[in-house]
Amino acid sequence: LPEVTIAGSGIYLPSRVLTNYDLEKMVNTTDQWITERTGIKERRIAGEKETPSEMGSMAAIMALQNAGLSAEDLDLIIVATTTPDTIFPSTACHIQHKIGARTIPAFDIQAACSGFIYGFVLASQFIASGNARNILLVGAEKLSSIVNWEDRNTCVLFGDGAGALIISNNKNKDCQLSFDIGADGSHWQILFIPAGGSRLPLTSQNINHKLHFIHMVGKKVFKLAIDSMEKSLKRCLEKAGVSADQLSCIIPHQANLRIIEALSERLHIPAEKFFVNMEKYGNTSSACIPIAFHEAITSKRIKDGDVVLLVSFGAGITWGSILFRY
Ligand code: ACO
Repeated sequence: LPEVTIAGSGIYLPSRVLTNYDLEKMVNTTDQWITERTGIKERRIAGEKETPSEMGSMAAIMALQNAGLSAEDLDLIIVATTTPDTIFPSTACHIQHKIGARTIPAFDIQAACSGFIYGFVLASQFIASGNARNILLVGAEKLSSIVNWEDRNTCVLFGDGAGALIISNNKNKDCQLSFDIGADGSHWQILFIPAGGSRLPLTSQNINHKLHFIHMVGKKVFKLAIDSMEKSLKRCLEKAGVSADQLSCIIPHQANLRIIEALSERLHIPAEKFFVNMEKYGNTSSACIPIAFHEAITSKRIKDGDVVLLVSFGAGITWGSILFRY
């Protein structure tokens, strides 16, 4: 059986803050609308040099220090990102080079906002099979680079940042209890970037039509987010034979406070059990969960022995949950 432990965590957030009041000057919106409809008050915006690999490397270094390990101890690097530094090579290769890791395998995974959960599941398989002892898992995003800053429907939602975990093999402590991941590609058009891949290359015409930015059908995403997270969370609990009231803390994807409130109501889980930090950072896609997790540990919201559930959804659509004892 797997002996999967979270040995350390780290985060990196750009220092530049963009508030709802700043956005009022950019698009036709108000602080009141954004706060009431999303729960977001401000978000961080990366500077030119703060690429996902740069932010991811800073988070990784903090996580390694936290775990009492050095980059040379790593056996594998997995990076979840939808905004890679370069289409290729992977952001994981950039991070491997920047932190001075050995020539270990390094690759990106793409499951949009569920990327970190997918990565966690993958990492735990490598640990369980005995093929790795220490894995660096990073979620790093520069969503400000793919947001249309003239579109009030989307630009108020997203932010930049990175989070990292060191996932290790620890004979004395087995933390993972269950997981559930899935996808339904029939909904790919409700949240996507039309151009920039090989389907619609970055021609000036496509750029003029703003096809290289996020396109979203907000209401459909909203509904599917609640449905898919509710089902995934339930399956995850069922697999482990754990009831909702045994949970100490739930770390949901930080897309919209109303999505989390709806989840809390449907599952009859008190709202206080959901860790929320989106008021400060907005939706940082695959970085949301590791940033929130790190803050929950450092603020002692999660303590040793607590049963914790991570749950996410994202473009694809994709979803995923992980249940573990910290
Ligand atoms: N400021 C002011 N008004 C706005 C804004 C804004 N920033 N954005 C939209 N509006 C307007 C709309 O134009 C609309 O006006 P209309 O009625 O005149 O047409 C009105 O507000 C209501 O818009 P709705 O879309 O009905 O608002 P809703 O309550 O659904 O909230 C929101 C919109 C916040 C986008 C919501 O649908 C949502 O959060 N959806 C999920 C989005 C999400 O989580 N995306 C990320 C997915 S994860 C990933 O993989 C990246």
